[in-house]
Amino acid sequence: MEHAIIILAAGRGERMNSETPKVMHKIAGAPMIVHTLRTAKSLDPDRIIVITGYGAEQVEKEISELEPEIDFVRQIEQKGTGHAVKCAEKMLKNFTGNTLILYGDVPFISPDTLELLIEEKESGTDLVVLGFESKQPGNYGRLIIENDQLISIVEAKDATTEQLKITLCNSGVLYTENKILFQLLSNITNENANQEYYLTDIVETAKNQNLSIKVVCCDEPETLGINTRSELSSAELTFQIRARERIIENGVTLSQPDTTYFSFDTEIGREACIGPNVVFGPGVTIESGAEILPFCHLEGCHISKGAKIGPFARLRPGTELSEDVKVGNFVEIKNSTISAKSKINHLSYIGDTTIGENSNIGAGTVTCNYDGISKHTTEIGNDVFIGSNTLLVAPVSVGDNSMTASGTIVTESIPSGNLAIGRVKQVNKPGYVKKLVALLKSKKKSKDN
Ligand code: UD1
Ligand code: MG
Repeated sequence: MEHAIIILAAGRGERMNSETPKVMHKIAGAPMIVHTLRTAKSLDPDRIIVITGYGAEQVEKEISELEPEIDFVRQIEQKGTGHAVKCAEKMLKNFTGNTLILYGDVPFISPDTLELLIEEKESGTDLVVLGFESKQPGNYGRLIIENDQLISIVEAKDATTEQLKITLCNSGVLYTENKILFQLLSNITNENANQEYYLTDIVETAKNQNLSIKVVCCDEPETLGINTRSELSSAELTFQIRARERIIENGVTLSQPDTTYFSFDTEIGREACIGPNVVFGPGVTIESGAEILPFCHLEGCHISKGAKIGPFARLRPGTELSEDVKVGNFVEIKNSTISAKSKINHLSYIGDTTIGENSNIGAGTVTCNYDGISKHTTEIGNDVFIGSNTLLVAPVSVGDNSMTASGTIVTESIPSGNLAIGRVKQVNKPGYVKKLVALLKSKKKSKDN
């Protein structure tokens, strides 16, 4: 069966106390709606429509950069969840499959749970709602069940004291035939405490039309909705706990899991070892058997088999490390490719650079890639030895098997096999220390008097 997914994301999220639209606040490096979108995409739907409203331009721009094939519909005025879904009616006019409703601020619903909804629908139920049991149901809509059928969803604000005692809550997620969804929505009104068009009101209409309506349940943490900054930080922690468990299960050693922070898209191969206090920004992939020592910050980089990084290394976007590369303490690398077995072991900045195989970059090497206006590249060949404290003033290239003397400032390219020495010549003055000290002392004395 074909299916479409509508994700509601028009609300401002007033309780976030922020100018940023709620769904753009980040969890593990990605706007929270991207988590919902990833789950949506895992179901392989025919189309995904995001309903935008508050901050629509920003939301649409940022989402399209990450997920180009998403469609958007704007809900100009936020008149409720039912009204929001209705905004997608034109776009889905001729769609004959089923439609799933998700919320942009409920990021952790698992694909397995959504599969349960789809199975329930396939077994003959007309409308399937995702519910959960909560010890503190608070503001959630309550699910009213009679004879195994859902007969209505009552919003907390409109509920009686008796209804408020119900602990079975509405997650907001529902699944039904597209045609039925919009036919049911054509009947809802805004006669309620909030004067909003509630999506949840379609349940009563469905019941009046003798449609079968069932609830499928999941655990409460999956339906965690984010309305405040405090809930946002809890969501971050929830994400990290799950990511750590998943990565350990995949055969990776995390020596102190509680101090390792992953991004929404971190990928780590089996047998890799990650030391304490390592932070992964977006876009990191690590192959099997690589080792990351403590206190590294990695973002937008690929680390191959057998490579060893850190402690205290920073790899920035565009860093590509081949097999058995070594990057040591206080080394920063950006937009650079380092080929197999090369080493940059101490205190260096490598930017916009390619380094061949088996080269050694000495302590304190800096590629001077920026002239204040433009960035320039450095090319270093195979089997090169860069002496400590070399400055490579880009654009510049260093041929295979060449060498630089310590302290060299390289301003001209070095041909293969050459030794480049570019430093002030040293002069030793025999017995000069004594003379100099005497001179300095007499100068100080005359100044003090
Ligand atoms: C909604 C449900 C409630 C459920 C809860 C679960 C309704 C009427 N109530 O309440 O039963 O327990 O979610 O979290 O559906 N949105 C729009 N346009 C609007 C209004 C909302 O796009 O005009 C979007 C919001 O951005 C958000 C989602 O819909 O992503 C839910 O809206 P929200 O106002 O948070 O609904 P709740 O009061 O939480
Ligand atoms: Mg909500």
